[in-house]
Amino acid sequence: MIQLAVIGAGRFGSLHIEILQTIAEVNVLAVVEPDPQRLKEVQEKYHIPHGFSSVEELWQLEVDAVDITSNEDTHGAIILEALHHNKKVFVEKPLATSREEINKIRKTARAGQIMTGHISRFSQEQISIKKALEEGVLGKLSQIRAIRDFNRSWFQGFGHRVHPVFESGIHDLDLIIWYADAQWKTVYAMESHAVGETSPDSFQALIEFENGLQAVIMSSWMLPEGAPPTLNELGTLDLQGTIKEYIELIGTKGTAKYQQPNAGFQVWTEKEAGEPDTRLWPPGIHGPGGALKRELEYFCECLLQNKNFDWMPLEQACASFYLAEAIIASGKTKQIITREETNDS
Ligand SMILES: NC(=O)c1ccc[n+]([C@@H]2O[C@H](COP(=O)([O-])OP(=O)(O)OC[C@H]3O[C@@H](n4cnc5c(N)ncnc54)[C@H](O)[C@@H]3O)[C@@H](O)[C@H]2O)c1
Repeated sequence: MIQLAVIGAGRFGSLHIEILQTIAEVNVLAVVEPDPQRLKEVQEKYHIPHGFSSVEELWQLEVDAVDITSNEDTHGAIILEALHHNKKVFVEKPLATSREEINKIRKTARAGQIMTGHISRFSQEQISIKKALEEGVLGKLSQIRAIRDFNRSWFQGFGHRVHPVFESGIHDLDLIIWYADAQWKTVYAMESHAVGETSPDSFQALIEFENGLQAVIMSSWMLPEGAPPTLNELGTLDLQGTIKEYIELIGTKGTAKYQQPNAGFQVWTEKEAGEPDTRLWPPGIHGPGGALKRELEYFCECLLQNKNFDWMPLEQACASFYLAEAIIASGKTKQIITREETNDS
């Protein structure tokens, strides 16, 4: 049995707890949350025996692993504390938001100690695209085009907390790195502050990889309230609105494309036509399922079997950080950034 503590009991932390409680091999022993009202509510709702207002208090308890679902800019410091106390770590994206923390994490973590919650690697359509690439169906990749747009009200509510490359963009950076299977070479980015917050509300970047692949990534937090809701996985996440998502891969032999809302995802074979469940956290009889459940089950399976996180290696989560950092630098300076000059080794 894995004894686990969830750190950060906001919208997503609560959903994690709900899913973790459906996984037989896990016991959510403690929750850490600085907001006393929130801590009380979550502890009572999910019958969690221990509740703490700060991470330092947690270490008095014997836990095997922590699941970090706190604000983005707190992840790095909490991971380093957890590593210091020799815990296994699941951390929601982004892994961290500063280069200093990322470099310390890389130096300190043992193999198989940290898994980053890049949920897209566990969604059905991206798994199918990865398999198509591995089987050579698409040939050699020439371009990847990725778009991810969120609601303006989400930006005003919480999205402005960090640069969008660490919030929305990081999902696509991770997919691009996973699919590219090569180091990036140059980045050119632009950002916009139309909403008027300190963090940009939109950015786009053109990335060139050492194997010749070109990727374009665009993300905006400007969708109006009337946009068709896609987060209709009601009752699971305490957030409603729209994620508009598009990814297309162009290879020498074939192309693959996924789009939501409205496009659906279908697989037609010799035997049947199917629509695999592409939802992220749909409700189910035994609690929320989908990509988030697959992701947390994978983390637990690796812990129990003492395996490395081969599907989501730490080095690739760090690679997303370095690329994100270069996008921010290019957006600010309006210069092309090369990987060589960033010392991303
Ligand atoms: N993978 C996905 O699709 C996805 C979706 C939503 C959120 N997320 C990620 O989940 C994380 C949480 O997002 P959210 O929407 O739940 O935010 P939220 O603001 O609802 O929750 C964050 C919680 O963490 C608490 N907190 C802040 N500092 C803390 C600390 N030092 N120790 C413990 N708790 C602390 C806050 O009080 C708050 O209750 C973020 O990293 C976000 O990027 C991922």
